[in-house]
Amino acid sequence: MAYRKRRKLRLKKGAYVVIVLLILLVVGIVKGIEYKKQKDYEATYEYKLITKGYSLEDAKFLDSKYDNAKKDKLLELESTDNIIDLINQKYFLFRNLDTYLEYIKDNDSEKLSEVVAICNVHANNKWYTYDLDTDISKKELMIVNKFYTMDKSYEPANMKSISLSYSYGSEGDNQLIDYAYDKFMEMAEEATEAGFHLMVTSSYRNYEDQEEIYNYRKTSYGERKADQTAARPGHSEHQSGLVIDMTSKEEAYADEFSVSETYKWLKENAYRYGFIERYPEGKTYLTGYSAESWHWRYVGVKAATTIHEENITFDEYYEYYVLGDN
Ligand code: DAL
Ligand code: ZN
Repeated sequence: MAYRKRRKLRLKKGAYVVIVLLILLVVGIVKGIEYKKQKDYEATYEYKLITKGYSLEDAKFLDSKYDNAKKDKLLELESTDNIIDLINQKYFLFRNLDTYLEYIKDNDSEKLSEVVAICNVHANNKWYTYDLDTDISKKELMIVNKFYTMDKSYEPANMKSISLSYSYGSEGDNQLIDYAYDKFMEMAEEATEAGFHLMVTSSYRNYEDQEEIYNYRKTSYGERKADQTAARPGHSEHQSGLVIDMTSKEEAYADEFSVSETYKWLKENAYRYGFIERYPEGKTYLTGYSAESWHWRYVGVKAATTIHEENITFDEYYEYYVLGDN
């Protein structure tokens, strides 16, 4: 009897040990899984971004929006200040992130939309102090401004002369690249039908022509004034063959033209022919030039329509829509 009792007890004890061991094993496995899960989560960008200081919502937003290289870049930044607000700006370019942040340091009262616009067009630099080459392969979308320089020897091909019905000076004085010429003629004829007689006062100018104009203004009015109205040689888009200066038969001078019905008609209609007002009122901080109601640039209908609808300068358009974020 006593022997059987002892055996039963030993068996019971053995079973308890097995049960305890099983429980420990299960707990161990569960803990192990939890630990692994935690470690895996800690390796995610979402976790790293939260640790950096972003909210869960912002971390999820950044994680799904950007590739790993860009997320690594965000993690390297000193702080999270302004990042989400900057990214939410319509024309934000990731490639300019460092430039925006640097600019904000010295201009902390500037609206972020302006910070983006200014830095996108490189106007965070002093005019003519940041050198880039004009990419002529972009054709009607090529940019020439105070930062992008056109090669001295560049001469546009396939030029056509604007007849004296629509231009001042002598026959052959005013030339445009053929495709811009065709659209100008279409526009000039429709303007005439609407009662406005466009007259071109200047168009293609080579490097030397521009040099002469700029130097004359510089000598007459000083460098600061000259720079407000004339491009330095190599920086004038007149050299591209894609530009016309125009007024109208009725209002031949710029003063009258800028308040004329013809100018109003152009502002409302020129984009339909691919022309844009290149130096609008109120955009000097982006273009570097005082408003020029007479200076119209051919960029093609698609670009002109976007520029017209979004009320942006060609400089902004070029950086955001032509170059993009690469
Ligand atoms: N007047 C414009 C800016 C030029 O000289 O090209
Ligand atoms: Zn001009």
